[in-house]
Amino acid sequence: VVDEAHATGVVGPGGRGLVSALALHDQVDVVIGTLGKALGSYGAFACSEPAIAEFLINRARTLIYSTALPPPTVAGALAALRLLAGDSALVRRLWDRARLLRTLLKGGGFQVEENEMPIVPLIFGTPSVALAVCEQALTDGVFVQAIRPPTVPPGTSRLRAVVTAAHTDHQCRKAAHAIAKAAAGQQAPPPLLAT
Ligand SMILES: Cc1ncc(COP(=O)(O)O)c(C=O)c1O
Repeated sequence: VVDEAHATGVVGPGGRGLVSALALHDQVDVVIGTLGKALGSYGAFACSEPAIAEFLINRARTLIYSTALPPPTVAGALAALRLLAGDSALVRRLWDRARLLRTLLKGGGFQVEENEMPIVPLIFGTPSVALAVCEQALTDGVFVQAIRPPTVPPGTSRLRAVVTAAHTDHQCRKAAHAIAKAAAGQQAPPPLLAT
């Protein structure tokens, strides 16, 4: 079972996910994913051969004992999938934005992992520092959420910068500048590399 929550709409050709990127279809029984991240809606999905799908439909308690997804959220997710399928440049634009944001943050003194994912963690360690940098960046109109334990392990409190295909160069520059300025203002220790 492969959880593509962070890969749907982000990784692989046209954002089809990691299994598609690595051509592992033959080796994976079930792909699960969310409609609530790159697709901007709500809900989730499981893809499998019909026998497994039938089993889940008849036995999965969270499906059977929960209200079905509201049609507007399904329509929203479907519209997002159609956009993805119809515009192969969309995902490449996301990768470009992610690369740009990483380059700008590195230029601002941050250590960042090298990959194409749109989430760029900036580790500060202490919750109070991560929160203070988040609040300071907000005063410059830039929202980068501070993430603290128990969401992440103690000592790895961070800002989670997330870029989208819709962000402009200017917005990426503004964000990187505001984050670096906010971190400098807190006299924060040098950010660590995410593990
Ligand atoms: C790897 C992974 N799987 C699943 C989920 C849950 O997705 P949903 O918001 O649709 O419950 C998340 C949410 O953060 C996630 O990171």
